Amino acid sequence: MRAPLFSKVVVHSFAREIPLRKVPNDDLAKLMDTNDDWIRKRTGIQTRYWVDEPTTTSNLGSASAKKTLALAGCDQVDAIIAATLSPDFNFPGIGVQIQNDLNLDCIPAYDIRNQCSGFLYALEMAGALIETGVYQRILVVGAEVHSTGLDRTTRGRDIAVLFGDGAGSCIVERKDCCHAPGPVFSLLGTELHSDGAFVDQLWCEHPGSAHFPIRVSVDLVEQGKIFPTMNGKLVFEHAVRRMVEVSMSLLGKLNRQPRDLRLIIPHQANLRINSLVAKQLGLDEEQVFNTIQKYGNTTAATIPIGFSHAVEECDLKPGDQILSAAFGSGFTWGAAVFEVVD
Ligand code: COA
Repeated sequence: MRAPLFSKVVVHSFAREIPLRKVPNDDLAKLMDTNDDWIRKRTGIQTRYWVDEPTTTSNLGSASAKKTLALAGCDQVDAIIAATLSPDFNFPGIGVQIQNDLNLDCIPAYDIRNQCSGFLYALEMAGALIETGVYQRILVVGAEVHSTGLDRTTRGRDIAVLFGDGAGSCIVERKDCCHAPGPVFSLLGTELHSDGAFVDQLWCEHPGSAHFPIRVSVDLVEQGKIFPTMNGKLVFEHAVRRMVEVSMSLLGKLNRQPRDLRLIIPHQANLRINSLVAKQLGLDEEQVFNTIQKYGNTTAATIPIGFSHAVEECDLKPGDQILSAAFGSGFTWGAAVFEVVD
């Protein structure tokens, strides 16, 4: 399996946008048959943030992107790559809305549909476009509004308690053009995978063009077919296995070992998944940077949100090596390795 290794690509100016409405587990217990103890023990989640009308995924993405541009001290990029599973509309994607919100001079706007692996897919594409000289500076955004797409009744409790809303963003840039005030991370390599045999193990079935003669109906809405469903145990097992596998594979291609890592900033689907991944990589719990307790799973926004916090809280030093890994619907999974340059 090939994994692109990069020599000319840096990533910087991580920012986040989190909606104001904090939703503790006890608030969910008022909507469905669940409780704080179950959610904390099984997932690690204590709170998540949900939007209040009329905030959309592109609103969150644009707000985060504005912060990223301010941090980077720039007002123009060559392209946008936006990842989400919860676009404002079926089409077009949120990339064009972010382009318009930010007044970014008719630049190309890509949309990535790889769910919890979405940020890593966007990052690899941005890295490849920079490394090969197509563009010099790309804005990468991950954004989600899950709260309006969840079954907030007991029928949907296995999924509804897991997800939160939010956005994260960064700049991916050619190293020799970068004048950002830091911290700046070299992107050393990425590795991505997918296995579509598991498409129906974590999905949202309706509305979709797979359905004839119409994509959704009142009956299907009443049956809850417009909400995501998941085989939680299977997803859990695959997430641990695949995140460890892809991390070891990419580290090997970079001639590195897990012990070379200062930190992992993984996707946040379940605290227990991340503990097991850390254990199997031989890392200490303190080396795993988790945000799930506060935000739940924010899908494509999770990793850039994690980086935005790590930059503020972790006293990162030049030479620190950082790994990200993610797993999600598709199934899709991947990893990326970074090194702090200044
Ligand atoms: N509150 C209270 N009870 C709940 C519940 C909730 N929110 N959700 C499910 N339960 C119940 C189940 O109905 C089941 O009851 P039963 O024993 O009477 O049948 C019991 O809790 C145990 O359910 P189970 O599914 O076996 O729990 P689990 O330990 O596997 O944990 C998940 C469930 C969803 C937390 C876990 O499987 C998981 O995290 N999977 C991966 C999720 C994921 O990564 N998703 C996103 C992909 S990126």
